[in-house]
Amino acid sequence: MIGHTDNSILIDAPLALVWSATNDVANWPELFSEYASAEILSEVDGTTTFRLTLHPDDEGRVWSWVSERTPDPVTRTVRARRVEPGVFEFMEITWEYREVAGGVLLRWVQDFRVRPDAPIDDEAMTERINRNTVTQMGLIKERIEAGAGPLPADFGLAGRRVLVTGGTRGIGRGIVRMLARAGADVLTCYRDDEAAARSLERELKGLPGTHHVVRADLSKVEDVERLVDECEVRFGVLDAVVNNAGVISHLPYRELPVREWQRIIDVNLTAAHLVTQHTLPLLSPGASVVFIGSKVAEVGVPLRAHYTASKAAVVGLALSLAKELGPQGVRVNVVAPGVIETEVLHAMPRDARDGLRARYREKTALGRLGEPDEVGGAVLFLVSPLSSYVTGEVLHVGGGIS
Ligand SMILES: NC(=O)c1ccc[n+]([C@@H]2O[C@H](COP(=O)([O-])OP(=O)(O)OC[C@H]3O[C@@H](n4cnc5c(N)ncnc54)[C@H](OP(=O)(O)O)[C@@H]3O)[C@@H](O)[C@H]2O)c1
Repeated sequence: MIGHTDNSILIDAPLALVWSATNDVANWPELFSEYASAEILSEVDGTTTFRLTLHPDDEGRVWSWVSERTPDPVTRTVRARRVEPGVFEFMEITWEYREVAGGVLLRWVQDFRVRPDAPIDDEAMTERINRNTVTQMGLIKERIEAGAGPLPADFGLAGRRVLVTGGTRGIGRGIVRMLARAGADVLTCYRDDEAAARSLERELKGLPGTHHVVRADLSKVEDVERLVDECEVRFGVLDAVVNNAGVISHLPYRELPVREWQRIIDVNLTAAHLVTQHTLPLLSPGASVVFIGSKVAEVGVPLRAHYTASKAAVVGLALSLAKELGPQGVRVNVVAPGVIETEVLHAMPRDARDGLRARYREKTALGRLGEPDEVGGAVLFLVSPLSSYVTGEVLHVGGGIS
């Protein structure tokens, strides 16, 4: 017997977006709930080979396998198969994308045979895959539709030129996505994660505006200078600068090495200062500068003295700059996120992740963690003309955290 499943879902989004989002394997942990990681092993002649790792199952086992995937943009189909079949003798998957009234019909056909020594037979596997596919397809639909195309309202950001540091992952990515959806042109940077950078480029292709993703390590002054030169070449002027790039570590204060203290201060504080100072000559009248701080800078947290010190310093920097630059019409504000669901959280073992979520259900008025796009929404407001009389403020995006 051969196992066979055939499932479809209608996604209300443009074909280009559904195609780019579902073929962006590096970003699958953001799209599917079942994957802890997706590591690209090679990309040769249009075929991507990658390792998928599931979140640990209820018995703590971690399943992982290698697959390959060949998208054909002409026929809008994808052929995929497991290279390391694991419990399967073989597993082949065909993805079909068809534009229909109301969006894109995504069809997912799986043909497989379970190994005779596997703890589950073809019939049970078919049932399991059908159940799981419905859940995962529902999530894909929800996530793609949530990020589809321009925002429904006009925030006065069309054509505004914005620099966002550290925009390839986590909160920065949410900020870039929201600004691009509002019509802004965005230049962003990252330090070294090339896969995340390529994945962001692909995502931005489905959104309005002209965007650039540049590699620059902001702990190096020469990279900051190069980044700002790039802004000048690409945009001429900047209407907003969002200092988001940041690093964190968890260490007892007694054992905190001076080098680690320095590393955190260099990126979270000094780089934000250098980027802001170097971009001053490019700022247009009425420009907005936003620093991403943190709720914990106000309340403190064990093992993060160096991090909270850097974030508290950012508030001081922003408040002084608001006063110094206000006469030129430049506004300066801080967005202070609470705990946000980023890739770091998705990569945690399921127990730890569930424990964290349960804790923040108790600690927040809204009973949940935040999403990167929700921080992006607050930044969008501060960058837009809607906040033209708001400066020197710390805007908390923490779901009412206590
Ligand atoms: N996540 C939260 O719950 C939370 C809460 C409060 C505040 N924040 C603040 O929000 C900001 C973003 O945090 P996140 O959790 O989204 O971080 P993240 O997921 O670790 O992403 C950090 C981003 O910054 C980039 N970056 C790091 N160091 C850099 C450097 N030296 N030069 C250039 N780019 C650099 C990274 O690029 P690579 O990937 O290439 O390294 C990545 O794009 C930080 O300022 C953080 O302190 C986060």
